[in-house]
Amino acid sequence: MSTRVLVVGAGGREHALAWGLARSPLVDDIVCAPGNPGMATIGECLPVAPTDPAAVADLATKLDADLVVVGPEDPLVAGVVDAVAASGRKAFGPSAAAARLEGSKAWMKDVLIEAGVPTARYGTFGSGQEPEALDFLQTLPGLYVVKTDGLAAGKGVVVTESIAEARDAVRAYLSGVAFGDAGRTCVIEEGLTGPEVSLFALCDGRRARAVATAQDHKRAFDGDAGPNTGGMGAYSPVPFVDAGVVDELMERALVPTLAELDRRGAPFRGTLFCGIMLTPDGAKVLEYNVRFGDPECQVVVPRLASDLFAHLSESASGDLTTPVELSDIACVGVVLASEGYPPAPERRGDVIAGIDRGGAHEGVVVFQSGTATDDRGDVVTNGGRVLTVTAVGADVSEARDRAYAAAAEISWPGVHYRRDIGAQALP
Ligand code: AMP
Ligand code: GLY
Repeated sequence: MSTRVLVVGAGGREHALAWGLARSPLVDDIVCAPGNPGMATIGECLPVAPTDPAAVADLATKLDADLVVVGPEDPLVAGVVDAVAASGRKAFGPSAAAARLEGSKAWMKDVLIEAGVPTARYGTFGSGQEPEALDFLQTLPGLYVVKTDGLAAGKGVVVTESIAEARDAVRAYLSGVAFGDAGRTCVIEEGLTGPEVSLFALCDGRRARAVATAQDHKRAFDGDAGPNTGGMGAYSPVPFVDAGVVDELMERALVPTLAELDRRGAPFRGTLFCGIMLTPDGAKVLEYNVRFGDPECQVVVPRLASDLFAHLSESASGDLTTPVELSDIACVGVVLASEGYPPAPERRGDVIAGIDRGGAHEGVVVFQSGTATDDRGDVVTNGGRVLTVTAVGADVSEARDRAYAAAAEISWPGVHYRRDIGAQALP
C-alpha cells in the first residue's frame, strides 16, 4: 500500500513542508495544489485553487490521497479541512471553526482572556462605535496598536506612538475604507515592547507538543527599517528563549488555549503558531496563527529529526504520539525579494540565475515561493518574496555564513535581501 500526500499551497512554507514530507520513508508520493516550480521537483503540481474547499476535496478523492496538508491560512479559514474531512479523508490543519483564531482577532483576544493567557489589554469596536474606540485610545499609555478583526494579508496592524495616526487608522478601518469588511470591526491594544519570538506547536485537539522557536524579520530592510513585509528571513532556534520559557509558555498559554477552544466546540488540530513578546513583565501572547509561519517553516523543517509525516498524520487523526525530535543544529533562512517589494514587485518574469549553484552549497536548501517557469523552461520571478535560501549549521553563526554564501550565487535584476538575518542571535 503506497502513501500519497496532497500539499495545498504555493509558497516557501509549502515547499518546505513538501520537502520534509519527501524525506519521510512513510511517504511514497507527493502531489501539490497548485505548488510552484520548486515543489514541481518533488511532486506533480495541479492547478487547483487552494481556497476552494470542494475543489480540494474532489482532488483529494480523485488522487485517493492518504493525507491532505494545508499550508496557508486562507484555505483553513475557508473550510478546506472540513470539506476534506467530510469526504472521509484525513487533513492536517484546523477546522474553519478553530481557524477563527486567526480569522478573527477579536475572537482570538476573547479566547486568550477567557483562557487566562497573558496578553495585551484591548478593546473591540464595531463600525457604529467610533466615539467609543477613540475614547479607548485615550486610556492607553503612549504606544497604540490598531488591528483589523479580519484577515488583511498581514497588513492590517498599525503600531504607533502617534495618537493622531492611531485615530486615523481607527476611522479608516471602521468605515471600511482601508480593508473593507475585514476592518469594520477592529481591535485596539496597548502597545507592548520587547523582543518578538514565535513558538510552533503541533496540536491534536487536546494535546500540544512544542516543535521549535523561531524569529522572523518583518521589516524590509536592515536594522528593522522600512515597511512591513510577510517576513524577510528567519532563524531557529532562538537562543535567548530557553527550554524553561518554552515549558512555561506551553503550560500558561498553549494548553489553556486548547482547553478553551475545546470548550467552545472548536477543538484545534494542526499547527498553533504563537506570537510572543518578551516584555519586561514577562512573556505575553501577541497573537495566534493557525499554521506554520512563512519563512519560519523553512527554518524549522530542516531541523526536524523525527518524521514530519508521522507528526502531521497523527495531528490530523487526533492522536499525537510520536515525540518531536530536533537535531541540535541551527537553521537560518534569507528571503530574496523582487525589486519594488513591498508593496508589490514592479517587474516579473526575470530569469533567476544560480538556484542550483546556491543549492549545492553544504547544508543549503533553496525554497521557492514567487517563482514561475517561462516558455523556455527557465525559473523566473513571479512575486514579491521569491526564494528563501536556508542553511543549517552547528550554530546560527555557521548557518548564517552558509546561507549568505549561497544567496550570493543567486541573482536577477533588482534582487534585494537583508544582510542581518539572525544577527540578533549571534553571541
Ligand atoms: P499581528 O498580526 O497581530 O501579529 O501583528 C503584527 C505585528 O504587529 C506583530 O508581529 C508585532 O510586531 C506588532 N504588534 C502586534 N500587537 C502588538 C502589541 N500589542 N504591541 C506591540 N506590537 C504589536
Ligand atoms: N512570517 C509571519 C507569518 O507567516 O505570519
